[in-house]
Amino acid sequence: ASHSLLLLPGDGIGAEIMKEVEKVVDWFNENSDMTFDTTEGHVGGAAYDRHGQAISDEDMAKALEVDAVIFGAVGGPKWDKVPYDVRPEAGLLRLRKEMELFANLRPAICYPALADASSLKPEVVEGLDILIVRELTGGVYFGEPKEITDLGNGQKRGVDTQVYDTYEIERISKVAFELARTRNNKVTSMEKRNVMKSGVLWNEVVTETHKNGFDDVELDHMLADAGGMQLVRWPKQFDVIVTDNLFGDMLSDVAAMLTGSLGMLPSASLGAPDPVTGKRKALYEPVHGSAPDIAGTGAANPIAMIASFAMALRYSFEEVGAADKVEKAIEATLEKGLRTKDLAKDGDTVVTTAEMGEAIVAE
Ligand code: NAI
Ligand code: MG
Repeated sequence: ASHSLLLLPGDGIGAEIMKEVEKVVDWFNENSDMTFDTTEGHVGGAAYDRHGQAISDEDMAKALEVDAVIFGAVGGPKWDKVPYDVRPEAGLLRLRKEMELFANLRPAICYPALADASSLKPEVVEGLDILIVRELTGGVYFGEPKEITDLGNGQKRGVDTQVYDTYEIERISKVAFELARTRNNKVTSMEKRNVMKSGVLWNEVVTETHKNGFDDVELDHMLADAGGMQLVRWPKQFDVIVTDNLFGDMLSDVAAMLTGSLGMLPSASLGAPDPVTGKRKALYEPVHGSAPDIAGTGAANPIAMIASFAMALRYSFEEVGAADKVEKAIEATLEKGLRTKDLAKDGDTVVTTAEMGEAIVAE
């Protein structure tokens, strides 16, 4: 099969870690029956320096055309003073908006070789493999009214509004159920129906969606605060967690710390299925930023970026075997004791970004 990719390396370490993904892509081009048709574009400060925009209309159009966008990271001190609407982050926000990426997928995988890097006891996290599916375009971050009003008596009032419509809950729960089928077939939905009307509706719509075509998947409901507690107490009880924008933001950051370094965490953002092809628009990116403090030093860990590409193989291309192959290669490289600086403890072999990428390709 042939797949089209748009690579947007961005700024700082973005370009360095994207080079390592390109080595993995080249490997598949040469050694498998998949072929990748890649084009490279610019985003963030790199695009601003060229076009005065955080992403050009041309690259934006390309992003809407390809099977998957592979995104590095944007931002850095060089662009701290550029106008607000063309700041580096605006490139990512435009991609999210125009591609309508409403589902944010954050896996928390704990490779056994790194179990001692977790904030929890090794036995609690060793072998952990869970996926948080966060609603990304609705909820309290976007609901109206959203304002600070002056009450006139020396007091002000800050207002944010949590709004969810049926269709928004339905489409995110469908994503969660579909993903669960490719994993361990279990979804836990989290909300606060005990105190929030949007939580009551969330619970109803998830339950209804489950009945209509997904009842082969195991479904549980949990209050989001209790869910946070369970995530730290015994995270291996979960497979897929589906939750709203706010709770998902917090719970995915908590889950991130179960697995160690920021340099290890991939993510995906998915849009609606195309009415003709059924394919979802998709963007894959590491959770971390452009790390200007280590840019150009060869210290960047490319694993989050390579693991993001593995997610593209799994979720956009349904190349599950190839995705497993990449994840196993990462695991084997770590088993051998290779560590970039962020992962290294006394006595470990410290390797550069390029050496880590090459070792993973070799595996
Ligand atoms: P950051 O994630 O870039 O870095 C935080 C710390 O983690 C730094 O000490 C960095 O060296 C380290 N780190 C991050 N990724 C690493 C990797 N792959 N290997 C080894 N070490 C790694 O977050 P920070 O410093 O808050 O932001 C730096 C810039 O990145 C800012 O301009 C910020 O706006 C931008 N940013 C961009 C994001 C994106 O493109 N999606 C997300 C977060 C921040
Ligand atoms: Mg967050």
